[in-house]
Amino acid sequence: MRAVVYDRYGPPDVLRIEEVPTPTPGRGQVLVEVMATSLNLSDWEGLTGSPAYARFGGFRKPRRRTLGSDIAGRVQAVGTNVTRFRPGDEVYGDNLALLGGFAEYALAPEKALAHKPEALSFVEASTIPQAGPIALQGTAGIGPGQRILINGGGGGSGSFAIQLAKRAGAHVTGVDNASKLEHMRSMGADEVIDYRSQDWTRLGPYDRVLDLVAHRSVFAYRRSLARGGRYRCVGGSVRVLLRVITVGALLGRLTGRRIGLLVVKPGPTYFEPMADLCVSGEIRIHIDRTFGLEQVPEALAQVGEGHALGKVVVEVRPSPRFPTPRFG
Ligand SMILES: NC(=O)c1ccc[n+]([C@@H]2O[C@H](COP(=O)([O-])OP(=O)(O)OC[C@H]3O[C@@H](n4cnc5c(N)ncnc54)[C@H](OP(=O)(O)O)[C@@H]3O)[C@@H](O)[C@H]2O)c1
Repeated sequence: MRAVVYDRYGPPDVLRIEEVPTPTPGRGQVLVEVMATSLNLSDWEGLTGSPAYARFGGFRKPRRRTLGSDIAGRVQAVGTNVTRFRPGDEVYGDNLALLGGFAEYALAPEKALAHKPEALSFVEASTIPQAGPIALQGTAGIGPGQRILINGGGGGSGSFAIQLAKRAGAHVTGVDNASKLEHMRSMGADEVIDYRSQDWTRLGPYDRVLDLVAHRSVFAYRRSLARGGRYRCVGGSVRVLLRVITVGALLGRLTGRRIGLLVVKPGPTYFEPMADLCVSGEIRIHIDRTFGLEQVPEALAQVGEGHALGKVVVEVRPSPRFPTPRFG
């Protein structure tokens, strides 16, 4: 099968296409014929090996030769003990443990997958498994009239999170680079801020801050919060994340605010509710662009260099059902 592989961390040109053996599913594993794989910032982090947590399991060289976690495709074969799927089933899931979505076939643990809703194309379904749970858990508990700020709001998770917060009745401020301001407005943001020209931590205070890309001091985060407010980050530099869970947590407690890290729970239990919202039309999937398998380096650069609005998808096998005008 064809797979996009790499053997060292670096820029997109460390990637190349190779003919590799098609894997065989082991106990509890499913072999998926990949139709589409959406990109997340975690793919870029896995490519470059930065921040340091992206090297978990492979400090000097990547732990897996093929990246790509958000897959959608057809079950080709199942290993022993697999009970929920059989060949031909259409599935999607966040394959963070085994990766391998930038290839014609990928192995995934049964528990990482769910049956794909018929109403979603493979391309659409692939956008949900990682970004959906981040957005749902990152906006959980938000109520009408609250002021929420979403930092990194123009990307994959942010585009979902803005819509969820609006749906909950909050006043939403989206922060991203200037090229994504109009996109965030179209997702429903009431206010937008270009992080390169304005310091959002001086503009609040906010009741809730969801930070997808934490790079600032915990004192700045504390300053951005109203009394009783809550800041949670899901990604960013390791230095900042460590400060958030130590100094930030203490600072929050001392000043009547909550500052912490959101460890996102993955898997079908957490992404299927998002797919339901997309199927019912309550949440829009915004696909910026699709690429072919041989264009994975270009697709990763689009995400990593900050040009993607919403989601970018690699169509491993172009499907006749896409592009469809249903969403975005
Ligand atoms: N905690 C967990 O359990 C967990 C699990 C999975 C993933 N994650 C993390 O969740 C995050 C989700 O990212 P995603 O896939 O939604 O990413 P994405 O689609 O790349 O979106 C991130 C957005 O943030 C923007 N950005 C970059 N630097 C910024 C800054 N300093 N201020 C404001 N905006 C900035 C980016 O634009 P530009 O770069 O163009 O400016 C981009 O639009 C990642 O950090 C990932 O590591 C966490």
